[in-house]
Amino acid sequence: MRNPLLRTLALSTLFSAALASATDGKTLAAAQGIPYPAVIAHRGASYDAPESTTPAYLLARELGADYLELDLQRTRDGVLVVVHDDELSRTSNVAERFPERAKSPVSAFTLAELKSLDAGSWFNQAYPKRARSSFEKLPILTLDEVIDIAEGNPDRHPGLYIETKVPNQFPGIEKDLKARLEARGWLDRPGRVVLQTFDRNSLKLLHEAMPQVPKILLLWVGNNGIASASGQDFAQSGEQDKAAFYARQQPKDKAEYLRWLDHATQEGAIGTGPSATRTHLGEQSYSDLIQPWMNQANHQRGLLVHVYTLDDRVDFDKAMQSGVDGIFTNRSAELLRFLQRPVKRSEPELLQTLGY
Ligand code: G3P
Ligand code: CA
Repeated sequence: MRNPLLRTLALSTLFSAALASATDGKTLAAAQGIPYPAVIAHRGASYDAPESTTPAYLLARELGADYLELDLQRTRDGVLVVVHDDELSRTSNVAERFPERAKSPVSAFTLAELKSLDAGSWFNQAYPKRARSSFEKLPILTLDEVIDIAEGNPDRHPGLYIETKVPNQFPGIEKDLKARLEARGWLDRPGRVVLQTFDRNSLKLLHEAMPQVPKILLLWVGNNGIASASGQDFAQSGEQDKAAFYARQQPKDKAEYLRWLDHATQEGAIGTGPSATRTHLGEQSYSDLIQPWMNQANHQRGLLVHVYTLDDRVDFDKAMQSGVDGIFTNRSAELLRFLQRPVKRSEPELLQTLGY
């Protein structure tokens, strides 16, 4: 182009278009085959059914969640299983069944031992209003069983959003995961699987094993995460209320926060998964890492933002206004309704139809 003015204009238009696409979460998500905004069923529909069990995942699938979220660990005999906590006492009768190993890690149990546990009755005791006798004696699931659920309805196609949990306890789990996903034909469609971890080394290993699969670096303020301004640690703080403690924690400074975005980019992530402070606090409320400037900084670097874990409309609204691209939720139905996506039947009706 000979005319310098036209050339400058053309270049500036091209630059603006590139910038617009690089800073637009919807475009970034589409490039990865990831729905926008993504509805991520945290441990399944875990408000209405025991976390990480068959009814929780079936319900999330039937509601129309985009992803079934799961925490991956490995049994003593090498089987990939879906359990959130490092040990089993909160969500099973391990203390009754194996009293001497009540506080042992998941890796200390064979699959047969895990399968002998009741991973449902605790929910009935903890949440009597949502209790169902059909939740008693629900088993812990393998990764393959969750894949079976995800594939089980030809009209519903949820993806899987898989976290490597305490990955330093499970050397090689990233390669094991790849082998299972490949064997099940789950690595063929872009965005069908999203991988997530708090652990930078595991992120690196996931990226080496599955470079083409989108990965999210989970963010939090605390040990092995973003350094806090207070320099305090919850365990040593003497504070009783964990959520109140974390609500006060902020990154040490802006540079410290941005360093974590650099880690995400350098280690192969296409986005971050920040924590959030819930309006009503509670067990799953942490530091507020979805301030608009933070989300913008992600987008400017071409990173998506999927926030964990919100269940209330007031928080969905705040998160979407602040610019996130997806939400982990225990209440997929509520989030789908908030996003004005169709939810044809209520959660209790669906559970009943599913045989629970
Ligand atoms: O994986 C995102 C979110 O699930 C992280 O928190 O502890 O529930 O696995 P957690
Ligand atoms: Ca998780």
